[in-house]
Amino acid sequence: MSEVRILGIETSCDETAAAVVADGRRILSNVVASQADLHARYGGVFPEVASRAHIEAAVPVIQEALDRARTTWEDLAAIAVTVGPGLVGSLLVGVNLAKGLALGRGLPLIPVNHLEAHIYANWLESDEGSPPDFTFPVLTLIVSGGHTELLLMRGHGEYRYLGGTLDDAAGEAFDKVGRLLGLPYPGGPSIEKAAARGNPARFRLPRAWLEGTYDFSFSGLKTAVARLIQQRDIPGPWVPDLAAAFQEAVVDVLATKTVAAAQEYGATAILLSGGVSANQALRAAVRRRAAVPVYFPPPALCTDNAAMVAACGYFRYCAGVRAGWDLDVEPDLRLA
Ligand code: KG4
Ligand code: ZN
Repeated sequence: MSEVRILGIETSCDETAAAVVADGRRILSNVVASQADLHARYGGVFPEVASRAHIEAAVPVIQEALDRARTTWEDLAAIAVTVGPGLVGSLLVGVNLAKGLALGRGLPLIPVNHLEAHIYANWLESDEGSPPDFTFPVLTLIVSGGHTELLLMRGHGEYRYLGGTLDDAAGEAFDKVGRLLGLPYPGGPSIEKAAARGNPARFRLPRAWLEGTYDFSFSGLKTAVARLIQQRDIPGPWVPDLAAAFQEAVVDVLATKTVAAAQEYGATAILLSGGVSANQALRAAVRRRAAVPVYFPPPALCTDNAAMVAACGYFRYCAGVRAGWDLDVEPDLRLA
């Protein structure tokens, strides 16, 4: 059978991205235009600014993805696009563009859930090689700017929700604490960098264990950091130490619950995904504690991109999923 090439389009938040992926695994191109600089001065994503930036970037980004992949419209089997969850105005740009392109080029259109796409980043080949054919069930932790969810994946497209955050997402907590510490946006990478020079033992921060559940809560931790900062008498340079203590607290809870869930549900592997899974301390902690193999995408595929959308779209395509021309965005879409 000949190769199935899918064009993925992603505009759910503040990255305008397009990619061409072969057979759900091989990345032929992966173009990401980040708006981070545009939003940095607001300390977060400004929805109105994001939609407008997507409109400007989308067509050139898609063209570049096709060019770099040396792929013509005739070579494509389908177009996969993120329909949610995400910012409604941003999603609308990608979905409407994908619809127009699919209609104009006579290609099938595949709707993709952004959260599911994050998981499928684990199926993509990288410099480290090709991931195995996973044996289900696998345990997946999605940790991003908008989501923190533990799911049992029983097969392609089959999820059981085990738990998630009751307040802030893990990435949101990194971003908010980054701002409190006066570090550049987004907070995740800034905190990780600062923490590398810090001593986490200097501050004792709370962990919300929510015993007996696979749920998370990070707002108390954020408040504890804010309270410490308000005590203006912390002597010496303390930002790296507080960043390290915060990161350690988040990682401790995420790793403990992920490993426990994998064990309870007999998962054959743990798959980390989402922007926060780029964090080296999180990756190391889960690997150290888990009894089963732990996988995570390379950092560039942890954060928002369209290769993961095309990979996920491939498995949907193979399952016969096709969108109608009435396809709409689903800003509050969930998995399972
Ligand atoms: O998956 P993503 O790119 O977008 C969403 O779907 O939300 O995740 C972005 C989030 C941001 O909150 C960012 O601070 C966080 O991922 N992040 C990190 C790291 N890199 C990105 N958090 C911790 N450590 C990192 N190295
Ligand atoms: Zn994302």
